[in-house]
Amino acid sequence: MDTVVSGIRPTGFLHLGNYFGALRNFIKMQNENNCYFFIADYHSLTTHPTPGDLRTNVKNVLIDYVAAGLDPEKATIYVQSDVPQVCELSLLLSMNVYVGELQRVASFKEKVRRQPNNVNAGLLNYPVLMAADILLHRADKVPVGKDQEQHLEMTRDFAQRFNHIYQNEYFKLPVAYNFGNDLIKIPGLDGSTKMSKSDNEGSCVYLSDAPEVVRKKIMKAVSDSGPTEPGQPKSQAVENLFSLMKAVSAPDTLQYFEDQYQACQIRYGDMKKQLAADMIAFIQPIYERILELRSKDDYISKIAREGAEKARESAAKTIKDVREIIGFKAL
Ligand code: TRP
Repeated sequence: MDTVVSGIRPTGFLHLGNYFGALRNFIKMQNENNCYFFIADYHSLTTHPTPGDLRTNVKNVLIDYVAAGLDPEKATIYVQSDVPQVCELSLLLSMNVYVGELQRVASFKEKVRRQPNNVNAGLLNYPVLMAADILLHRADKVPVGKDQEQHLEMTRDFAQRFNHIYQNEYFKLPVAYNFGNDLIKIPGLDGSTKMSKSDNEGSCVYLSDAPEVVRKKIMKAVSDSGPTEPGQPKSQAVENLFSLMKAVSAPDTLQYFEDQYQACQIRYGDMKKQLAADMIAFIQPIYERILELRSKDDYISKIAREGAEKARESAAKTIKDVREIIGFKAL
């Protein structure tokens, strides 16, 4: 059985894009692998959240994931800072990581460009901590999006360097697990090609949105003035409505509106009404579990506590081995 590790940054509520991106695949993977899914709260400190925000974000992300189907009986779900062994591994790895190579990382350069007044050492060290997250459980596979592939490559470099220096094969070289065709791209309601909270709050449908909120958002989604001749290509905004429908509606519903479009008879109001109904049907069970879990503090704490215990067990073993390999011995 393969060991799978992935981290989730606690940036707020989960939206449909997150669901059809990583989450749906995590849910599938948990059945066949030894999975560790953690909330990367150490990483989130690079943006300096207040203590209150940090706590609520971590809790909300945990609730959303469990409500959507991550199962604490199948996967080890934990909060990164509950397993501080990762800091030790990060420190140990960092001794063989060069400042120059960290400065050349694409995500770091992007941060330097976007937030020149907060280029903290945590940002520079981000790939090392991420490598430690992964190597801590000696992962085989790491399900991540395209934007994280460079980090994965570095993880392999660091692992290989360690193995080389100490002349062993202790760390496996984890591979990026890409969902490829399984990934349904969820566009925004504002005509943008990707549902993204950082671009526009209003373009997102959250798993925790109440049905009437979902309906309002969909009815307000951007469309266009309609096709005037058969075969006319769809505008991006209308293409988006079809993509969303493809994700949550039945194939014959999608086909019906496709035919209407091709015949220049489409009424976007009708299409949105149908899309809203199907979207609500899709989200509602998750939404209801979210509400339920929000009132079950004890259950949420128990998930975090038990996940942390299991993760610490796996971490302690790795740290013990690594300390021995490096040469730390009791005097
Ligand atoms: N960097 C990842 C992201 O931004 C989050 C993350 C942190 C992660 N540690 C990880 C992902 C380890 C996979 C494995 O999405």
